[in-house]
Amino acid sequence: MSDESIHDVVRNRYGAIARALDEDTLQKPSCCGGTSASTSTSSSASASCCGEGAECGTNSQLYDMSLLEGLPVDATRLSLGCGDPVSIANLKVGDTVLDLGSGGGIDCFLAARQVGETGHVIGVDMTPEMLKKARANKAKMGADNVEFRLGQIEALPVADQSVDVIMSNCVINLSPDKKSVFREAYRVLKQGGRVSISDIVTEGEFSPELRAQVDQWAACVTGAIDVQEYTGLMREVGFVDIQVVDKADASEIIPPQTGMPRVFSARITARKP
Ligand SMILES: C[S@@+](CC[C@H](N)C(=O)[O-])C[C@H]1O[C@@H](n2cnc3c(N)ncnc32)[C@H](O)[C@@H]1O
Repeated sequence: MSDESIHDVVRNRYGAIARALDEDTLQKPSCCGGTSASTSTSSSASASCCGEGAECGTNSQLYDMSLLEGLPVDATRLSLGCGDPVSIANLKVGDTVLDLGSGGGIDCFLAARQVGETGHVIGVDMTPEMLKKARANKAKMGADNVEFRLGQIEALPVADQSVDVIMSNCVINLSPDKKSVFREAYRVLKQGGRVSISDIVTEGEFSPELRAQVDQWAACVTGAIDVQEYTGLMREVGFVDIQVVDKADASEIIPPQTGMPRVFSARITARKP
């Protein structure tokens, strides 16, 4: 499939999830394989893209619950990440922060509290329905230091060397051109700027048959690549100090099958020299 076809499938999936929230038919929004099971209780790397329990989608186990207080319900219900990249981003008051694939905006709002009035948070997402939800959530919160831009993370609508910290939560695995994502991230970061990512990665490769299952790609499964390849791409575009901070087995939410490598939710940090 072409890159644009993959984008279309991914956009359709996340557009449908955002619309389901509006229509109150959101049952099990999950970035991972359309399943909801998870037993993780950690707020570090988590193998959960979808909350366990009554309110699937609250992702309560991804974050320290106290962090979620005061966020609009629609922001927490649309939380589709696979970890908490904000808590390891070491954000400072006044920072400019960029969230790649911001969805309903949960990580943007958490970051906004940390960077304060003098800071600025930009969320970029290619799905118009998600952007609409994120902007409505921003209005509910009165978060004046947050803005959401429509765009693809492979061609960011963001100026060169204008960002202190890039975050991303369960998104880069969805990109058909991960090297362009990292190249763009590098371009927009200031010198010394940092990256803090949660994402699905593998140890090993999917079989070509599984890799071709585009619905599973859109569900954050078959677009995932080997963690060595992932960090290798970051290195190739110029990032240094690349660290896999933690890694949680994701087999409970992405059931193993023939041709599937081991799948993890990992948190990865790096720096632009
Ligand atoms: C699994 S959700 C994660 C959303 C959010 N980061 C969170 O933690 O809740 C993936 C999001 O990334 C967006 N996305 C996927 N691929 C993208 C791309 N190539 N460019 C921009 N946005 C993308 C989708 O529209 C969707 O909102």
